[in-house]
Amino acid sequence: MFVSVTFVFSAIHFLLAVASPVEVPRGTKIALNKRTSFAGPDGVADLDAIQKHFIRSTAKIQAGFMAYERNTGTAHPLAGVGSADMIRRAADIALAEDMGGQMWQGAIAVGTPPQNFSVDFDTGSSDLLLPGPLCTTNCEGHHFYHPEKSKSGRDLYHPFSLTYGDGTSATGSVYSDTVHIGGFKAINASVGAAETYSEGFAPWNFFPDGLMGMAFRSLSVYDDDPVFQTLAREDQVQDQVFAFKLGDHGAELSIGGVNNDLYKGDLTYTPVTHQSYWQVNLDGASVNGNKTLGNMTAIVDTGTTFVIGDADDVTKFFESVPGAKLAPNSAGHGLYTVPCNATPDVSLTIGETTFNMSKELFNLGPISHGSPECMASVVGQKSQGFWIIGDTFLRSVYTVFDVKNARVGFASLA
Ligand SMILES: *[C@@H]1O[C@H](CO)[C@@H](O)[C@H](O)[C@H]1NC(C)=O
Ligand SMILES: *[C@@H]1O[C@H](CO)[C@@H](O)[C@H](O)[C@H]1NC(C)=O
Ligand SMILES: *[C@@H]1O[C@H](CO)[C@@H](O)[C@H](O)[C@H]1NC(C)=O
Ligand SMILES: *[C@@H]1O[C@H](CO)[C@@H](O)[C@H](O)[C@H]1NC(C)=O
Ligand SMILES: *[C@@H]1O[C@H](CO)[C@@H](O)[C@H](O)[C@H]1NC(C)=O
Repeated sequence: MFVSVTFVFSAIHFLLAVASPVEVPRGTKIALNKRTSFAGPDGVADLDAIQKHFIRSTAKIQAGFMAYERNTGTAHPLAGVGSADMIRRAADIALAEDMGGQMWQGAIAVGTPPQNFSVDFDTGSSDLLLPGPLCTTNCEGHHFYHPEKSKSGRDLYHPFSLTYGDGTSATGSVYSDTVHIGGFKAINASVGAAETYSEGFAPWNFFPDGLMGMAFRSLSVYDDDPVFQTLAREDQVQDQVFAFKLGDHGAELSIGGVNNDLYKGDLTYTPVTHQSYWQVNLDGASVNGNKTLGNMTAIVDTGTTFVIGDADDVTKFFESVPGAKLAPNSAGHGLYTVPCNATPDVSLTIGETTFNMSKELFNLGPISHGSPECMASVVGQKSQGFWIIGDTFLRSVYTVFDVKNARVGFASLA
């Protein structure tokens, strides 16, 4: 059987910290890295890279909708009119050369004895993908997963085909094996061993060896539990939560607990409203303390770099930002600029708590050398109907993904 899958380019790295919400130190941490920004050495925003990443992110989400529909037989409630258009447009765009720099990567090991890999940790997809032993195209330079050298590796005779909306793809076979993550072991985890990697996964485009999806099973192209849910199913983690601190310093993924040292104040939890993506209600978006938008649906995605809103919402949002303009060459993608000397205070309200977005993350830098116009990291996607809360917001907060209670928690960084 062939399963067509979509994958994501996400950007997350891990570190793990220990400590449960009940303050029992527990769990482990994985350090995360992210290599590049969207600004060149001179601080000028790289519009081309921004556009390509934007397209890739939205295409990935659409691919998840397709996997959901295959798994459940029903359309994803958020899959809307924008999809076809978005994918077509995405397919026209060449791959960004620096894609690899836009992911967060961290370490895992697979098999017995353990084979080491770096993976992109992505809360916007649900499958684990690694280069397999038969891969001869675009895999050289990555670490290969050898199921035949693993005592615990078992062929599930389940071919897969992952197709990302932007033309990036992988095909291969699904194995069952032990995945070691942050000191925990998922015994019967599904691992995709790729036989082909498209150019988008080549080591010069994609620095980690593979991808680890951390959303819910309904998005899984393998139609199996994601690694973290496998840990939970096998009772390996006491607290079925993982949490991310993203950022330039001390980026960390906590597995099986939250790291209480990384945030201050209380965690504000908001329920997952649909278990596929980490979908929540976004209660509002504010500019300079004025609420400009309220009550939206959002997906919390570590694999998306920007905050990508529905284009109509985003237009309204920038109408309340003094001096904001549609970016030149925006090509209908809803990219905006703000005056470099007047970056607004932007905040999102989630679960009745308002979290500020750091100005450095909202402002991606001048659109050209010496320009007074700076690119904003909140962008609009036509007919999307929902928001994707990515890196440029998530770096400003500590984020807890609570699998057991199906909720997402946010707190200010310590
Ligand atoms: C795998 O990574 C672990 C932890 O960093 C290290 O101790 C071990 O030597 C590595 N194994 C191999 C085969 O590189
Ligand atoms: C893993 O799968 C095997 C074969 O289905 C089963 O016997 C074993 O109990 C499973 N282990 C765990 C920890 O679920
Ligand atoms: C908030 O909005 C009101 C009405 O549009 C406006 O008069 C006021 O200046 C805004 N406040 C800020 C801080 O932008
Ligand atoms: C938010 O929107 C949803 C659906 O669009 C609606 O059911 C709900 O009542 C709204 N909540 C508020 C507080 O307006
Ligand atoms: C958020 O930003 C506003 C300014 O818009 C500031 O007054 C407030 O103190 C900030 N909140 C936090 C928690 O930093």
